[in-house]
Amino acid sequence: MSPLPLVGLVGLSILLLIFFFSVQTQKATRDHSVIPNAFPWVGRNKNEIFSSVRSNYRGLVNSVQHFKAGYRKYSKLGLIYVVPAWTRGPQIIIPPSMTPWIANIPENILSAKECTFDNGNDLLGVLIRKELTRSIGQFNNEIFEEIDLSMQSIFGTDGQWRKVNIYNSFIKSVGSSANRIFVGKELGSNMDFIMASVKFAKDVSISSYILHMFPKALKPVASWFATIPNRYHSGIAMKYLRPLVQQRFDDIVRKRDDPNFSFEEPDDVVTWMVREALKRNTSIETSPAELAYGILLLNFASITTTTITATNTLLDIHSAPNAEELVEALREEASVVLREHNGVWTKQAISKLYRLDSAIRESARMSGIGGTAMARKVKVPGGMTLPDGTWVPENVTIGVAMDGIHFDEEFYENPLKFDLFRFSRPREQYLAGLIGDKPPVNEDFVTTSERWLPFGHGIHGCPGRFFASNNIKMMLAHLLLNYEVQPWKVRPPNISIDVISVVPMQATMMIRRRVAKM
Ligand code: HEM
Ligand SMILES: *[C@@H]1O[C@H](CO)[C@@H](O)[C@H](O)[C@H]1NC(C)=O
Ligand SMILES: *[C@@H]1O[C@H](CO)[C@@H](O)[C@H](O)[C@H]1NC(C)=O
Ligand SMILES: *[C@@H]1O[C@H](CO)[C@@H](O)[C@H](O)[C@H]1NC(C)=O
Ligand SMILES: *[C@@H]1O[C@H](CO)[C@@H](O)[C@H](O)[C@H]1NC(C)=O
Repeated sequence: MSPLPLVGLVGLSILLLIFFFSVQTQKATRDHSVIPNAFPWVGRNKNEIFSSVRSNYRGLVNSVQHFKAGYRKYSKLGLIYVVPAWTRGPQIIIPPSMTPWIANIPENILSAKECTFDNGNDLLGVLIRKELTRSIGQFNNEIFEEIDLSMQSIFGTDGQWRKVNIYNSFIKSVGSSANRIFVGKELGSNMDFIMASVKFAKDVSISSYILHMFPKALKPVASWFATIPNRYHSGIAMKYLRPLVQQRFDDIVRKRDDPNFSFEEPDDVVTWMVREALKRNTSIETSPAELAYGILLLNFASITTTTITATNTLLDIHSAPNAEELVEALREEASVVLREHNGVWTKQAISKLYRLDSAIRESARMSGIGGTAMARKVKVPGGMTLPDGTWVPENVTIGVAMDGIHFDEEFYENPLKFDLFRFSRPREQYLAGLIGDKPPVNEDFVTTSERWLPFGHGIHGCPGRFFASNNIKMMLAHLLLNYEVQPWKVRPPNISIDVISVVPMQATMMIRRRVAKM
């Protein structure tokens, strides 16, 4: 091979590297220059050369640690601090004394949408809060059927040990059981559709990392390329969703105008959505394509989050030093409750799984999704003043250090200990007549608080948490009762990327069907 093409290739690579490096440097320097000088940074040394871009890079791999360190150093004194981050720019962290304040500030002052996800209008939120949450329990038989079927097909029924990827198995159970309620039985069990929705969710975060590396002027072009996978996967999902929504829409409208038209509205999210859209009667909100996209966004908000939570809980339980004992205690509870409810996971039965609820809550406390909670963008032109008098500029991101709070001994006794029954013990002791004459303060998985933030807290707190909780508990209870999982000596560690901590998606488990014990 002649050396010329090689030299050209190396030269081009070097040019590209220089290009990206200078874009990153400019962007990082600009982002950092907005932050008032008096604010202390964690993870950035102002005196080193290229400090902004280097600290952003460190933020990419380590900001979860920076949030924790800053919490001990500054939050504990009631002070704010700043952590550099790759995609989202510097994160200004406010101390926990301001949690009640940030939890209840409206969108036009501190925007949640610009930090989490923007679904265009409030239709989804309204649907989840009103219809989906109200219906919890009503569809448990359907949800259970999907969970049981998907576990049988992945984990087997022959009692042989199998090695399976945890995350990928759970995402199938979560995806098909949730979509049974979102889009009905037929599409809900279509794996082509479900996996396309799941992949779309992943594409969105990957493309945002890639796009971050381009300057504003090149963004439109870069965006076209970077979002090829997004369009490919959303295209597959929409191929199924659009006709379904269009058909439902037409049927409902026709039924409205012609009572003789024989059509029974299926009870699912698509129907609720079309009804709500017709009530609103604006052209954008009643476009079937928009509504179909809304279902894709619903999948985006629910499937990965739920799967991560279930995966972390499973890993945390089975890698505890006393895993066997914990599994026994959880199994005992699940089997007693199920027997008391005639073998059916009713809403009431699920609400009795105190130990399992505590296990999920404790796992989310220790293996949360991220370093921050309640990230908000300042929308007030000219900036605003925090409750302690500190001024913050317009467009910066502020939030609280979730892990810092979750591991603070001021809020938790022995915070570094994974104590599975931390939240259910007081209730069980009370029910056994061992403590007090007043029931202890409710600390369920769905109860957000100033010291427990995996769903956020306050006006933007996750509206899907009741639905998620119901599904996760049914999944894990079914798994505990019907399958056996080999414990881990060391928990497969989660991975810190930018401002979030990601569950080990490659981790596998050894699992087999249990022999029925009566
Ligand atoms: C265990 C699973 C889940 C976790 C950990 C989770 C977590 C979160 C968090 C942290 C937020 C942002 C809160 C804030 O900024 O203050 C959020 C918002 C949201 N979540 Fe969830 N979520 C989960 C499941 C779901 C499910 C199942 C759905 C839908 C059925 C859903 C729909 C939403 C929506 C629509 C928002 C935006 C709410 C708003 O901006 O007002 N989530 N979620
Ligand atoms: C419905 O059917 C009845 C009886 O067949 C008929 O009298 C009526 O006109 C029909 N209504 C409409 C709206 O078509
Ligand atoms: C919906 O809006 C259109 C005009 O935008 C109007 O003509 C129509 O009567 C409205 N329908 C209902 C049911 O309110
Ligand atoms: C998982 O991630 C959280 C958040 O970064 C971290 O605090 C926790 O220690 C991690 N747990 C394990 C077992 O790796
Ligand atoms: C904040 O962002 C908005 C929207 O991108 C922009 O119009 C505005 O000029 C920004 N303000 C400052 C002070 O940078």
